[in-house]
Amino acid sequence: MRGLRDKTILVAGGGTGIGAATALRLGAEGAVVIIGDYDAGAAQSVAEQVVADGGRAQGAGFDVRDRESVASLIRLALEPSGEIDGVHINVANMAILSRDEDVVATDLSVFDATMDVNLRGHVCVTQLAIPHLLKSGGALVYTTSEAAYLSEPTRFSYGITKSGINALMRHVAIRWGREGIRANAVAPGFTLTSAIDAHISDELKAEFLGNIHSPRLVSPDDIAATVAFLMSDDAASINGQVINVDGGRILRA
Ligand SMILES: NC(=O)c1ccc[n+]([C@@H]2O[C@H](COP(=O)([O-])OP(=O)(O)OC[C@H]3O[C@@H](n4cnc5c(N)ncnc54)[C@H](O)[C@@H]3O)[C@@H](O)[C@H]2O)c1
Repeated sequence: MRGLRDKTILVAGGGTGIGAATALRLGAEGAVVIIGDYDAGAAQSVAEQVVADGGRAQGAGFDVRDRESVASLIRLALEPSGEIDGVHINVANMAILSRDEDVVATDLSVFDATMDVNLRGHVCVTQLAIPHLLKSGGALVYTTSEAAYLSEPTRFSYGITKSGINALMRHVAIRWGREGIRANAVAPGFTLTSAIDAHISDELKAEFLGNIHSPRLVSPDDIAATVAFLMSDDAASINGQVINVDGGRILRA
């Protein structure tokens, strides 16, 4: 893809799953990848993998709920070149999903904890990244979800945060587009990360496959490829969009 080589790109939430796959893909495209994750060890090990594959990367722990911690990650990303050319905001509190029921059954503490990471955290990274992206003419790519569109009987907090991310992304796109910042989002459908693969049955996988219009389930590499494209100069005229990577899940006959 054009325009990724030697660019500094921050992946916030890149220690595992989709974020890790994206960091590896960006590294393979020649970008200098800064990987931040709550799990510092996971971030460092993804960075080591990028380097082992011939790329350049650095990993660090951070907590998206803590503004100073986000600021410190941004400072780390500025170290290689003094510029940040792209930010992928991918963090989500996935561990809490099993307690995110319907709006009546769900304790407000679950709602608050989901908001803190999935929405307030995205706002915080956006706030601190934009001054640097204005200097570089950089791109922001958020990870949203099909949950922003689907009508779901549970995980209502999660769906609200993903709809909120879409609104935040469009706000950034229209507010700063003419000044050179592009903001877009990738909306994964059910994506078979290794963590999910280890925990679900073959029957459930078959059920998810039955919901889509593709011969196989979505992989983290599919999402990574889309993020890399949206970051690249090949996507120079794409701004304010949500790209569904869901195997055709939202198609209706
Ligand atoms: N896997 C799917 O089926 C799927 C579907 C739709 C959307 N998504 C979205 O894709 C993104 C990645 O999901 P994934 O399946 O790879 O999950 P994941 O749990 O592997 O990735 C989320 C990352 O965020 C990090 N994180 C959580 N809280 C944090 C905090 N407070 N500070 C910093 N980092 C924190 C985690 O440590 C983890 O590495 C999420 O935004 C998720 O909502 C995933």
